[in-house]
Amino acid sequence: MQEQIVILDFGSQYTQVIARRIRECSVYSSIEKYDVSAERLAQLAPKGIILSGGPASVFDDTAPLPDRALLRLGVPVLGICYGLQLLAHYLGGKIKQAQKREYGKGSLIIQKDSPLFHGLPQTLQVWNSHGDQLLSLPRGFESVAITENSQFAVIQDLKRQRFGLQFHPEVIHTLRGKKVLDNFLRRVCRCGKKWTMRHYVDQAIGEIRERVGEEQVILGLSGGVDSSVTAALIHRAIGNRLTCIFVNNGLLRKGEAKAVRQLFGRNFKMSLQYENASAAFLRKLQGITAPERKRKIIGETFIKVFQQATARAGKAKFLAQGTLYPDVIESVPIAGNPAALIKSHHNVGGLPKKMKFELLEPLKRLFKDEVRRLGKELGLPKEVILRQPFPGPGLAVRILGEVTSGRLRILRLADAIVVAEMKANDWYYRVWQSFAVLLPVRSVGVMGDERTYDYTIALRLVDSKDGMTADWVKLPHELLERISTRIINEVKGVNRVCLDISSKPPATIEWE
Ligand code: XMP
Repeated sequence: MQEQIVILDFGSQYTQVIARRIRECSVYSSIEKYDVSAERLAQLAPKGIILSGGPASVFDDTAPLPDRALLRLGVPVLGICYGLQLLAHYLGGKIKQAQKREYGKGSLIIQKDSPLFHGLPQTLQVWNSHGDQLLSLPRGFESVAITENSQFAVIQDLKRQRFGLQFHPEVIHTLRGKKVLDNFLRRVCRCGKKWTMRHYVDQAIGEIRERVGEEQVILGLSGGVDSSVTAALIHRAIGNRLTCIFVNNGLLRKGEAKAVRQLFGRNFKMSLQYENASAAFLRKLQGITAPERKRKIIGETFIKVFQQATARAGKAKFLAQGTLYPDVIESVPIAGNPAALIKSHHNVGGLPKKMKFELLEPLKRLFKDEVRRLGKELGLPKEVILRQPFPGPGLAVRILGEVTSGRLRILRLADAIVVAEMKANDWYYRVWQSFAVLLPVRSVGVMGDERTYDYTIALRLVDSKDGMTADWVKLPHELLERISTRIINEVKGVNRVCLDISSKPPATIEWE
């Protein structure tokens, strides 16, 4: 049987982050609801159990309480934050109810030997979550470490292999937190380093097959990382019972439609339904200049086109989507809470509820970098896996004002030069986004003996971690010069190139 850790979820924002850290330690973990029975746990035969944090207090009438019998399974237990309070509550410690919860960085001073802190310095920066506080230790426990606010920041019962942490080892604000978890996995639970992305693929394929049975699945393929990896994974599981619908909205970059059809249709041999709806989109966008109106029209048109396409695709029970974990996590209203850092900016869902499909979201547990690794495992090329983000409304939000076929032609050519030069000079994969924007203002220039009166292209080159904030990239002048010269020489209709040197905030990355 495969070694596994079971995480009991008490409603913490971080439960999936704990699972992710355990995956990073090459160990398999599964998440169970907090009230799973001890019998079921015994069947799973975990090498260890982690009690997650959670927003409740053990004093709440509705406090989530696990099956006490889990403490009799003889399996090592690690309680984090609320999980520590629970251990204490069940095992006879004294807890003081807190009036309010506080979050913050703290210094942990380790005072006793513990397998959890093997190989770590005596003082650690940790991210605390001060909810209720432990006043006295439960039977058999000792205090291992303190913070300025707590004598019992870490507790352990070595004999019974039970541990409690008041801080969150899974968040990045706890420096070396992963090492603490790794120590629990290896030194306490005796797990090996056996779990890899290969196993993840096998497991996900098994789950997809079981859920889908003999039914059909459809997927809206955009060519972006998430939908591409979803397509490759489901295709590997059920072959051509997956139909991918690729809508060309006429707002794609140069060569994009062809590349998607080639990769998925020809190379992967997927059943790919290509819907060229360019004309419909362009017609609807005629005369529209307000950014939000454009977005709305594009969104609505997409849904209509997609609905018609699904009707043609035949009877499918499932609609697959490349939803990632950061897309599903709720925002956290507490200022300074690091969970906010893992929330993604733009949610890509948005198909109407009345579409009668069951959703299939095989990436729902993963973070972006894990999706990229999964894509690599599935044989997707670097160009897809490491692609820069591209907005759903496409080039429409990079043409200021009205979108016309003439302007699209100009922007496509200019953008292709930016991408080609960034790739050729090894910059493309080093930045978050690099693209061209078409400004609908005309200025005077000279070309040869002729006076020109043409459009301006702005270069937007930004660095970012998550799209929430961004800095403009200081590209070498020679490369900027080359991009500018090529655009002006090769793209008819452009006689000026400008560089956008604004950061986000207050500017946004896209110009609309
Ligand atoms: P902004 O312009 O808000 O962009 O600074 C942040 C990130 O989000 C992308 N973006 C979008 N993605 N639909 C999308 O799917 C949209 O309407 C959209 N608008 C912006 C943008 O490319 C950047 O990565």
